[in-house]
Amino acid sequence: MASAGLGLSAVFGPATFCAVTGGSRGLGRSIAVLLAERLGEGSRLVLTGRSLQGLQETKRQVEEKCPNQLEVKLVTADMGDSTAYPALFYDIFADTGPGAFQNALIIHNAASLGDMGKKAAEHFDPEILNKYYATNLTSVIALTAKFMEVFSGSNVRRTVVNISSAVAVEPLRHHALYSSGKAARNMFFKVMAEEEPDVRVLSYSPGPMATDMLQTVRSCGDKKVEDRFNAMESKGLILSPDASAKHMCTLLEEDKFKSGAFLDVFGRFSL
Ligand SMILES: NC(=O)c1ccc[n+]([C@@H]2O[C@H](COP(=O)([O-])OP(=O)(O)OC[C@H]3O[C@@H](n4cnc5c(N)ncnc54)[C@H](OP(=O)(O)O)[C@@H]3O)[C@@H](O)[C@H]2O)c1
Repeated sequence: MASAGLGLSAVFGPATFCAVTGGSRGLGRSIAVLLAERLGEGSRLVLTGRSLQGLQETKRQVEEKCPNQLEVKLVTADMGDSTAYPALFYDIFADTGPGAFQNALIIHNAASLGDMGKKAAEHFDPEILNKYYATNLTSVIALTAKFMEVFSGSNVRRTVVNISSAVAVEPLRHHALYSSGKAARNMFFKVMAEEEPDVRVLSYSPGPMATDMLQTVRSCGDKKVEDRFNAMESKGLILSPDASAKHMCTLLEEDKFKSGAFLDVFGRFSL
């Protein structure tokens, strides 16, 4: 069993396989660039997203930071399309046979907000709901299952990170789909942590960050929501994605969290 406190090299050492979903911009890009310095020789970083251009820019930044040290693989797919999962998962995990990697890490970062124009009681279209939860919940569960199948050997240290949000535990108007998806993911990973003591599982709430997603939230048209983020901004509580990515990496490196925990960048939650 991989125990807590293995130290700095344990989670990001040499020969690490690391997949980051939503690596084409925002927090995913920051995580990828930060990991570039930490993944040792023989490592592979797999980045997913719909925008090839965005992924290529992230790859450029990773390679600038860490030339020749690691293989960066880009995989494009829409996670809202579950028929694309077999091909997507094949591409993500190609050439990961036994002995290829000592560490395996997956960071479920990709997410979408859904239709912010609707209140909780107005989401009537099952097709839209299915696509939303495919992107934000089903893909995460199915990708995790594939990750566990591929890295089933006891000699690979496995870590699964669920990028969550404060709204998984605090209701926010116009965020019914987003909040419920994040809440479901938190509990999914809590159950998995109970069942899989050999796997390190973390749900991380990165805090409000200056990204495209926050920009969309802040212009949703609901004054209460907008006031909330304006107040946070005036208190200096809107973070850069780089700063939040750094905090996540520190949590992983220190390796003190209880597997399955839900931790917040501000230390507000420890659930
Ligand atoms: N920003 C915040 O204030 C904040 C606060 C709390 C939690 N978070 C969480 O932090 C994570 C990153 O958020 P962010 O602010 O960096 O968001 P962002 O800038 O909107 O980036 C979202 C990422 O997810 C990918 N993505 C979205 N829909 C997708 C789909 N259908 N298929 C495949 N990939 C898709 C996007 O890639 P493509 O567009 O290339 O597909 C992009 O790389 C998310 O899990 C979010 O919930 C953010």
